[in-house]
Amino acid sequence: MLKIFKLILYTTATLLVFNTLAQKQLVINPGEKWADMDGNHIQAHGGGVIKIGKTYYWYGEQRSKEFDIDTVHHYVSCYASKDLINWKFKGNAIKLARPDTALEGKHWVLERPKVYYNKKTKKYVMYMHIDGVVKGKRYGFASVGVAISNKPEGPFKYLNAFRPLGKESRDIGQFIDDDGSAYLIFESRPSKGFYIAKLSDDFLTVEKEVSFIQAPLEGGAIVHYKGLYYVIGSALTSWAPNPNKVATATSLAGPWSTFSDIAPPETNTYSSQSTMLLKVEGKKQTTVLYMGDRWKPSAQWDSRYLWMPVEIQEGKVWIPKPKPWHINVKTGEVRYIEQINK
Ligand code: GAL
Repeated sequence: MLKIFKLILYTTATLLVFNTLAQKQLVINPGEKWADMDGNHIQAHGGGVIKIGKTYYWYGEQRSKEFDIDTVHHYVSCYASKDLINWKFKGNAIKLARPDTALEGKHWVLERPKVYYNKKTKKYVMYMHIDGVVKGKRYGFASVGVAISNKPEGPFKYLNAFRPLGKESRDIGQFIDDDGSAYLIFESRPSKGFYIAKLSDDFLTVEKEVSFIQAPLEGGAIVHYKGLYYVIGSALTSWAPNPNKVATATSLAGPWSTFSDIAPPETNTYSSQSTMLLKVEGKKQTTVLYMGDRWKPSAQWDSRYLWMPVEIQEGKVWIPKPKPWHINVKTGEVRYIEQINK
Protein backbone atom coordinates (compact mmCIF):
# COMPACT_ATOMS: atom_id res chain seq x y z
CA MET A 1 0.00 0.00 0.00
CA LEU A 2 2.78 2.39 0.99
CA LYS A 3 4.61 1.52 -2.23
CA ILE A 4 1.57 2.37 -4.34
CA PHE A 5 1.10 5.62 -2.43
CA LYS A 6 4.75 6.52 -3.00
CA LEU A 7 4.42 5.70 -6.69
CA ILE A 8 1.35 7.92 -7.05
CA LEU A 9 3.12 10.72 -5.20
CA TYR A 10 6.21 10.38 -7.36
CA THR A 11 4.20 10.33 -10.61
CA THR A 12 2.15 13.37 -9.57
CA ALA A 13 5.28 15.28 -8.57
CA THR A 14 7.01 14.40 -11.85
CA LEU A 15 3.97 15.47 -13.84
CA LEU A 16 3.79 18.73 -11.93
CA VAL A 17 7.47 19.52 -12.49
CA PHE A 18 7.14 18.52 -16.15
CA ASN A 19 4.08 20.69 -16.58
CA THR A 20 5.73 23.69 -14.97
CA LEU A 21 8.81 23.21 -17.12
CA ALA A 22 6.72 22.75 -20.23
CA GLN A 23 4.96 26.05 -19.66
CA LYS A 24 7.99 28.04 -18.64
CA GLN A 25 9.26 30.17 -21.46
CA LEU A 26 12.93 30.81 -21.83
CA VAL A 27 12.89 33.62 -24.34
CA ILE A 28 10.98 36.63 -25.54
CA ASN A 29 10.18 36.22 -29.19
CA PRO A 30 9.59 39.79 -30.48
CA GLY A 31 6.50 40.16 -32.67
CA GLU A 32 5.30 36.57 -32.09
CA LYS A 33 2.31 35.52 -30.02
CA TRP A 34 3.29 35.83 -26.36
CA ALA A 35 1.50 33.38 -24.08
CA ASP A 36 0.92 34.14 -20.42
CA MET A 37 1.35 31.39 -17.82
CA ASP A 38 -2.15 30.11 -18.58
CA GLY A 39 -1.34 29.79 -22.28
CA ASN A 40 -3.35 32.82 -23.46
CA HIS A 41 -1.90 35.57 -25.68
CA ILE A 42 -1.00 38.46 -23.36
CA GLN A 43 -3.47 41.34 -23.52
CA ALA A 44 -1.61 44.40 -22.28
CA HIS A 45 -1.42 46.70 -25.28
CA GLY A 46 -0.07 50.26 -25.18
CA GLY A 47 1.15 49.24 -21.77
CA GLY A 48 3.69 49.97 -19.11
CA VAL A 49 5.77 47.97 -16.66
CA ILE A 50 6.70 48.86 -13.07
CA LYS A 51 8.77 46.93 -10.53
CA ILE A 52 7.55 46.52 -6.96
CA GLY A 53 10.03 44.59 -4.81
CA LYS A 54 11.11 41.69 -6.98
CA THR A 55 7.93 41.61 -9.03
CA TYR A 56 7.30 43.31 -12.34
CA TYR A 57 3.73 44.38 -13.13
CA TRP A 58 2.62 44.91 -16.69
CA TYR A 59 -0.55 46.94 -17.27
CA GLY A 60 -2.13 47.53 -20.63
CA GLU A 61 -5.24 47.70 -22.75
CA GLN A 62 -7.26 44.53 -22.34
CA ARG A 63 -8.35 43.73 -25.88
CA SER A 64 -9.18 40.04 -25.82
CA LYS A 65 -12.19 39.30 -28.03
CA GLU A 66 -14.37 38.68 -24.99
CA PHE A 67 -13.72 42.16 -23.60
CA ASP A 68 -13.08 44.14 -26.78
CA ILE A 69 -16.61 43.58 -28.04
CA ASP A 70 -17.95 45.15 -24.85
CA THR A 71 -18.69 48.69 -26.02
CA VAL A 72 -20.00 49.80 -22.65
CA HIS A 73 -16.92 48.98 -20.59
CA HIS A 74 -13.20 49.16 -21.13
CA TYR A 75 -10.68 47.18 -19.15
CA VAL A 76 -7.06 47.46 -18.04
CA SER A 77 -5.26 44.17 -17.55
CA CYS A 78 -2.58 43.40 -14.99
CA TYR A 79 0.12 40.74 -15.29
CA ALA A 80 2.91 39.86 -12.85
CA SER A 81 6.33 38.37 -13.48
CA LYS A 82 9.63 37.78 -11.72
CA ASP A 83 11.66 37.44 -14.91
CA LEU A 84 9.98 39.69 -17.53
CA ILE A 85 9.44 36.60 -19.70
CA ASN A 86 6.79 34.51 -17.89
CA TRP A 87 3.70 36.54 -16.99
CA LYS A 88 0.81 35.55 -14.77
CA PHE A 89 -2.53 37.16 -15.54
CA LYS A 90 -3.70 38.82 -12.31
CA GLY A 91 -7.05 39.88 -13.72
CA ASN A 92 -8.48 43.11 -14.98
CA ALA A 93 -7.36 45.89 -12.68
CA ILE A 94 -10.24 48.15 -13.68
CA LYS A 95 -13.53 47.74 -15.50
CA LEU A 96 -14.71 51.17 -16.47
CA ALA A 97 -18.06 52.25 -17.87
CA ARG A 98 -18.27 55.52 -19.85
CA PRO A 99 -16.52 57.72 -17.31
CA ASP A 100 -17.80 61.17 -18.22
CA THR A 101 -21.13 62.59 -19.29
CA ALA A 102 -19.37 64.90 -21.76
CA LEU A 103 -18.61 61.83 -23.92
CA GLU A 104 -21.21 61.60 -26.68
CA GLY A 105 -22.65 58.39 -28.09
CA LYS A 106 -21.73 54.84 -27.30
CA HIS A 107 -18.17 54.78 -28.50
CA TRP A 108 -15.37 55.90 -26.18
CA VAL A 109 -11.78 54.81 -25.67
CA LEU A 110 -9.45 53.93 -22.84
CA GLU A 111 -5.88 53.74 -24.07
CA ARG A 112 -2.27 53.45 -22.89
CA PRO A 113 -2.86 52.90 -19.16
CA LYS A 114 0.14 53.41 -16.85
CA VAL A 115 0.40 52.70 -13.12
CA TYR A 116 2.61 54.45 -10.57
CA TYR A 117 3.27 53.31 -7.01
CA ASN A 118 3.34 56.10 -4.45
CA LYS A 119 5.62 55.15 -1.54
CA LYS A 120 4.25 57.86 0.76
CA THR A 121 0.55 57.09 0.38
CA LYS A 122 1.17 53.38 -0.37
CA LYS A 123 -1.35 53.66 -3.21
CA TYR A 124 -1.20 52.53 -6.81
CA VAL A 125 -2.29 55.30 -9.13
CA MET A 126 -3.41 54.60 -12.68
CA TYR A 127 -3.38 57.12 -15.52
CA MET A 128 -5.16 56.38 -18.77
CA HIS A 129 -5.99 58.23 -21.95
CA ILE A 130 -9.74 58.71 -21.97
CA ASP A 131 -11.28 59.89 -25.17
CA GLY A 132 -14.31 59.90 -27.40
CA VAL A 133 -16.67 62.16 -29.28
CA VAL A 134 -17.29 65.62 -27.84
CA LYS A 135 -19.26 68.22 -29.79
CA GLY A 136 -19.20 65.83 -32.73
CA LYS A 137 -15.41 65.70 -32.80
CA ARG A 138 -13.67 62.28 -32.61
CA TYR A 139 -10.97 62.15 -29.94
CA GLY A 140 -12.53 65.40 -28.75
CA PHE A 141 -12.41 64.63 -25.02
CA ALA A 142 -8.59 64.42 -24.97
CA SER A 143 -8.20 63.92 -21.23
CA VAL A 144 -6.53 61.67 -18.70
CA GLY A 145 -8.48 59.50 -16.29
CA VAL A 146 -7.09 58.70 -12.84
CA ALA A 147 -7.84 55.68 -10.66
CA ILE A 148 -6.46 54.44 -7.35
CA SER A 149 -5.92 51.10 -5.63
CA ASN A 150 -4.39 49.62 -2.48
CA LYS A 151 -3.06 46.62 -4.35
CA PRO A 152 -1.12 46.39 -7.62
CA GLU A 153 -3.69 44.11 -9.25
CA GLY A 154 -6.58 46.34 -8.26
CA PRO A 155 -9.46 46.75 -8.12
CA PHE A 156 -8.76 50.37 -9.06
CA LYS A 157 -11.36 52.95 -8.12
CA TYR A 158 -11.96 55.56 -10.78
CA LEU A 159 -11.52 59.11 -9.45
CA ASN A 160 -11.83 61.66 -12.24
CA ALA A 161 -10.83 62.81 -15.69
CA PHE A 162 -9.13 66.09 -16.53
CA ARG A 163 -6.95 67.81 -19.08
CA PRO A 164 -3.41 67.90 -17.65
CA LEU A 165 -2.26 71.50 -17.20
CA GLY A 166 -5.54 72.39 -18.91
CA LYS A 167 -4.26 71.03 -22.24
CA GLU A 168 -5.61 68.48 -24.69
CA SER A 169 -3.94 65.16 -23.96
CA ARG A 170 -3.94 62.08 -26.18
CA ASP A 171 -1.19 59.39 -26.04
CA ILE A 172 0.33 59.26 -22.58
CA GLY A 173 3.64 57.84 -21.39
CA GLN A 174 5.11 57.28 -17.96
CA PHE A 175 8.50 58.18 -16.57
CA ILE A 176 9.85 57.63 -13.06
CA ASP A 177 13.26 59.15 -12.42
CA ASP A 178 16.00 57.55 -10.30
CA ASP A 179 15.00 59.76 -7.34
CA GLY A 180 11.43 58.40 -7.51
CA SER A 181 9.87 61.57 -8.95
CA ALA A 182 7.06 60.72 -11.33
CA TYR A 183 6.17 62.28 -14.66
CA LEU A 184 3.45 62.03 -17.24
CA ILE A 185 4.33 62.49 -20.88
CA PHE A 186 1.37 63.59 -22.94
CA GLU A 187 0.88 64.48 -26.56
CA SER A 188 -1.02 67.69 -27.23
CA ARG A 189 -2.28 68.25 -30.76
CA PRO A 190 -2.96 72.03 -30.61
CA SER A 191 0.65 72.88 -29.72
CA LYS A 192 2.07 70.06 -31.89
CA GLY A 193 4.35 68.42 -29.42
CA PHE A 194 4.53 66.65 -26.16
CA TYR A 195 4.74 67.71 -22.58
CA ILE A 196 6.75 66.19 -19.77
CA ALA A 197 4.89 67.10 -16.61
CA LYS A 198 5.56 66.35 -12.96
CA LEU A 199 2.90 64.62 -10.91
CA SER A 200 1.81 66.00 -7.53
CA ASP A 201 3.24 64.41 -4.35
CA ASP A 202 0.27 62.04 -4.09
CA PHE A 203 0.42 61.40 -7.89
CA LEU A 204 -3.29 62.19 -8.18
CA THR A 205 -2.85 65.18 -10.39
CA VAL A 206 -0.45 66.70 -12.89
CA GLU A 207 1.30 69.56 -11.17
CA LYS A 208 3.81 71.29 -13.34
CA GLU A 209 5.21 71.48 -16.85
CA VAL A 210 8.85 70.42 -16.89
CA SER A 211 9.42 70.47 -20.61
CA PHE A 212 7.60 70.94 -23.87
CA ILE A 213 9.13 69.22 -26.88
CA GLN A 214 7.97 70.78 -30.08
CA ALA A 215 7.79 67.74 -32.32
CA PRO A 216 4.63 66.07 -33.65
CA LEU A 217 5.25 62.82 -31.82
CA GLU A 218 3.21 60.44 -29.67
CA GLY A 219 3.80 57.12 -27.88
CA GLY A 220 6.28 59.08 -25.76
CA ALA A 221 8.75 57.20 -23.54
CA ILE A 222 11.77 58.30 -21.51
CA VAL A 223 14.76 56.63 -19.89
CA HIS A 224 17.49 58.16 -17.72
CA TYR A 225 20.70 56.36 -18.55
CA LYS A 226 24.27 57.25 -17.65
CA GLY A 227 23.62 60.95 -17.11
CA LEU A 228 21.42 61.50 -20.14
CA TYR A 229 17.66 61.59 -20.60
CA TYR A 230 16.54 59.82 -23.76
CA VAL A 231 13.06 60.51 -25.09
CA ILE A 232 11.53 58.48 -27.90
CA GLY A 233 8.30 58.87 -29.80
CA SER A 234 6.47 57.90 -32.95
CA ALA A 235 4.98 60.06 -35.70
CA LEU A 236 1.22 60.67 -35.77
CA THR A 237 0.18 57.91 -38.14
CA SER A 238 -2.60 56.31 -36.09
CA TRP A 239 -2.22 52.50 -35.89
CA ALA A 240 0.26 52.35 -38.78
CA PRO A 241 3.91 52.11 -37.78
CA ASN A 242 6.47 54.75 -38.71
CA PRO A 243 10.15 55.42 -37.99
CA ASN A 244 10.28 56.23 -34.26
CA LYS A 245 12.86 58.79 -33.15
CA VAL A 246 15.03 59.69 -30.18
CA ALA A 247 16.33 62.95 -28.70
CA THR A 248 18.43 63.55 -25.59
CA ALA A 249 19.04 66.14 -22.90
CA THR A 250 21.18 66.36 -19.78
CA SER A 251 18.19 67.67 -17.85
CA LEU A 252 14.52 66.70 -18.17
CA ALA A 253 13.79 70.37 -18.71
CA GLY A 254 15.93 70.32 -21.84
CA PRO A 255 17.22 71.71 -24.07
CA TRP A 256 16.57 68.61 -26.17
CA SER A 257 18.72 67.59 -29.12
CA THR A 258 17.26 67.09 -32.57
CA PHE A 259 15.59 63.73 -33.21
CA SER A 260 17.26 60.78 -34.95
CA ASP A 261 16.13 57.28 -35.94
CA ILE A 262 16.10 54.36 -33.50
CA ALA A 263 15.91 51.69 -36.22
CA PRO A 264 16.44 51.54 -39.99
CA PRO A 265 13.66 53.92 -41.15
CA GLU A 266 12.49 51.59 -43.94
CA THR A 267 11.47 49.00 -41.29
CA ASN A 268 9.08 51.46 -39.60
CA THR A 269 10.63 50.56 -36.25
CA TYR A 270 10.25 46.90 -37.21
CA SER A 271 6.52 47.55 -37.65
CA SER A 272 6.01 48.78 -34.12
CA GLN A 273 5.14 51.86 -32.10
CA SER A 274 6.84 52.89 -28.86
CA THR A 275 5.09 52.59 -25.53
CA MET A 276 7.89 52.48 -22.94
CA LEU A 277 11.62 52.29 -22.29
CA LEU A 278 12.31 50.02 -19.34
CA LYS A 279 15.58 50.17 -17.42
CA VAL A 280 16.65 46.86 -15.89
CA GLU A 281 19.43 47.48 -13.40
CA GLY A 282 21.22 44.20 -12.73
CA LYS A 283 24.27 43.39 -10.62
CA LYS A 284 26.49 43.19 -13.69
CA GLN A 285 24.91 45.57 -16.16
CA THR A 286 22.04 47.92 -16.84
CA THR A 287 19.94 47.02 -19.83
CA VAL A 288 17.36 49.25 -21.48
CA LEU A 289 14.41 47.58 -23.17
CA TYR A 290 12.34 49.09 -25.95
CA MET A 291 8.70 48.11 -25.56
CA GLY A 292 6.59 48.61 -28.66
CA ASP A 293 3.19 47.58 -29.99
CA ARG A 294 2.54 45.99 -33.32
CA TRP A 295 -1.10 46.98 -33.72
CA LYS A 296 -3.69 45.04 -35.69
CA PRO A 297 -6.58 47.52 -35.86
CA SER A 298 -9.04 44.99 -37.31
CA ALA A 299 -8.12 42.32 -34.74
CA GLN A 300 -6.62 44.14 -31.78
CA TRP A 301 -6.70 41.01 -29.59
CA ASP A 302 -4.03 39.64 -31.89
CA SER A 303 -1.81 42.75 -31.72
CA ARG A 304 1.75 41.83 -30.84
CA TYR A 305 4.54 43.20 -28.70
CA LEU A 306 7.94 44.10 -29.96
CA TRP A 307 10.29 44.15 -27.00
CA MET A 308 14.01 44.36 -27.67
CA PRO A 309 17.07 45.32 -25.64
CA VAL A 310 18.51 48.48 -27.20
CA GLU A 311 22.02 49.62 -27.88
CA ILE A 312 22.28 52.88 -26.01
CA GLN A 313 25.21 55.23 -25.72
CA GLU A 314 26.19 58.85 -26.11
CA GLY A 315 22.85 60.10 -27.27
CA LYS A 316 22.00 57.20 -29.59
CA VAL A 317 19.38 54.52 -29.14
CA TRP A 318 19.32 51.68 -31.61
CA ILE A 319 17.05 48.65 -31.79
CA PRO A 320 18.97 45.70 -33.19
CA LYS A 321 17.21 43.47 -35.71
CA PRO A 322 14.56 41.59 -33.68
CA LYS A 323 15.42 38.05 -32.67
CA PRO A 324 14.61 35.87 -29.66
CA TRP A 325 16.34 36.95 -26.47
CA HIS A 326 16.59 36.17 -22.80
CA ILE A 327 17.28 38.49 -19.89
CA ASN A 328 18.60 37.62 -16.48
CA VAL A 329 16.92 40.29 -14.37
CA LYS A 330 19.34 39.68 -11.48
CA THR A 331 22.48 40.40 -13.50
CA GLY A 332 20.88 42.54 -16.20
CA GLU A 333 22.57 40.42 -18.87
CA VAL A 334 20.92 39.61 -22.19
CA ARG A 335 21.51 36.56 -24.36
CA TYR A 336 20.19 35.97 -27.88
CA ILE A 337 18.93 32.60 -28.93
CA GLU A 338 19.11 32.47 -32.66
CA GLN A 339 17.03 30.30 -34.95
CA ILE A 340 14.56 29.37 -32.26
CA ASN A 341 11.28 27.79 -33.40
CA LYS A 342 12.63 27.28 -36.90
C1 GAL B 1 -2.22 55.84 -32.34
C2 GAL B 1 -2.06 55.90 -30.84
C3 GAL B 1 -2.91 54.80 -30.27
C4 GAL B 1 -4.35 55.02 -30.71
C5 GAL B 1 -4.42 55.12 -32.23
C6 GAL B 1 -5.82 55.41 -32.69
O1 GAL B 1 -1.44 56.80 -32.96
O2 GAL B 1 -0.73 55.75 -30.47
O3 GAL B 1 -2.79 54.78 -28.87
O4 GAL B 1 -4.82 56.23 -30.16
O5 GAL B 1 -3.53 56.08 -32.70
O6 GAL B 1 -5.86 55.77 -34.03
